[in-house]
Amino acid sequence: MGKEKLIVALDVDSLDKALALVDKLAPHVGMFKVGMELFNAEGPQAVRAIRERGGKVFLDLKMHDIPTTVAKAARVLTRHGASIINLHAGGGLAMMQAAAQAVEEEAGALGIECPLVIAVTVLTSMDQSAMNNQLNIPGTVEEQVVHWAKLAQQAGLQGVVASPLEIESIRAACGHDFSIVTPGIRPAGVKKDDQHRIMTPAKAIERGASYLVVGRPITAADNPVDAARSIVEEITRVSGGVK
Ligand code: C5P
Repeated sequence: MGKEKLIVALDVDSLDKALALVDKLAPHVGMFKVGMELFNAEGPQAVRAIRERGGKVFLDLKMHDIPTTVAKAARVLTRHGASIINLHAGGGLAMMQAAAQAVEEEAGALGIECPLVIAVTVLTSMDQSAMNNQLNIPGTVEEQVVHWAKLAQQAGLQGVVASPLEIESIRAACGHDFSIVTPGIRPAGVKKDDQHRIMTPAKAIERGASYLVVGRPITAADNPVDAARSIVEEITRVSGGVK
């Protein structure tokens, strides 16, 4: 179903604000993204409260540390009941492998569904000049994104977060069983806000996105439920109504 592919970004700083959105949107969307702002303000109770209301949670905490530390943190996030967690591919193969293994073990021990562990590649706020000159990484952003996506797959991760413009090259390199979670989505005629490289929901799904992350076009809409439903309709239309 189209709604399973829609993740709403809860970019708010309090549980009250988050739950006001969750109460309205839970029946209409597939998942809620809890980022550093909400998690650092409210902690694990944010995840629990969303799950109690029937919502699934993508914990967007972008971990990056030594393998043991990330593995232990990933284990704890699995206990909170997140459906997706993420880390920076720049942390390297060993870090990603340790996290993937810890999550699988912990989910197995708890008898729960294993969360997807996905990698952040090159941040979309980073352009080629900053990547080449500040990070001292040569080549194009796209080459680096594909390189890190393949490394994440080699480490046993199930997908990446990527800009809509990178979907096709990641799909070509990593195949169809690899999840691509795509922000920067704007339905036709909706404000761009501070996003530069945007795509409509239909185009992103057609190019091969597995999940769309949408924030302000839904959360700041006059009627968030209508906004979510219209995006779900658009996704369902191009998915052929199958998934
Ligand atoms: O409101 P909007 O739809 O722009 O929100 C997009 C969400 O996706 C935000 O939570 C933003 O931090 C996140 N994101 C992004 N671009 C990335 C990674 C994450 O917009 N490359």
